[in-house]
Amino acid sequence: MISGRRTPKYEKNIYLIGFMGAGKSTIGELLAKKLNRKFFDTDDLIIKELGISISQIFLERGELYFRDFESNMIKNVAKNIQAVIALGGGAILRQENWKVIKSSGVSIYLKWNIQTLLARILGDQERPLVKQKIGPSGKNEIERLLVEREPFYERADIILDCDKMEPAQIVNKIISALQEGK
Ligand code: S3P
Repeated sequence: MISGRRTPKYEKNIYLIGFMGAGKSTIGELLAKKLNRKFFDTDDLIIKELGISISQIFLERGELYFRDFESNMIKNVAKNIQAVIALGGGAILRQENWKVIKSSGVSIYLKWNIQTLLARILGDQERPLVKQKIGPSGKNEIERLLVEREPFYERADIILDCDKMEPAQIVNKIISALQEGK
């Protein structure tokens, strides 16, 4: 490396962002394998560190506790150099998380149509926000959440329309987008 050259962000960490059910973990794992990079999933790291499920964290300690813990986890995991990192669906809500994401790598929004996401997440008992938002009007509540969050997801460096694509195709698209961005 030429001394003094700053590492382009496309060669730094890769952050996968998107709504619940976007396949951040599945795609992240495949992408990391293909690029020969380390893979981290912040939800999994939180579960490991606290020894309880995300549902239990929300129930026993509250959402604010989870969000604070998540922000700390993002700071820690961002210390990696060239990792692939899957973030929880709500990580984009905090400006402090964006600061870390933007300064340590490239962010990719895995964008899906709402119907696809709903089909994947409805009835998932492991997702506390899904549980909370499913009442008689549950479906609308989840749609509302996605609409509310869309502008945050769209802050990503790369927005990838994933509809009708298989994980392997998405991985290839990501790799092409990264190469184009160099
Ligand atoms: C959340 C998404 C979840 C998890 C937590 C909160 C959210 O992650 O971090 O339940 O606010 O969208 P996934 O996006 O991996 O399901």
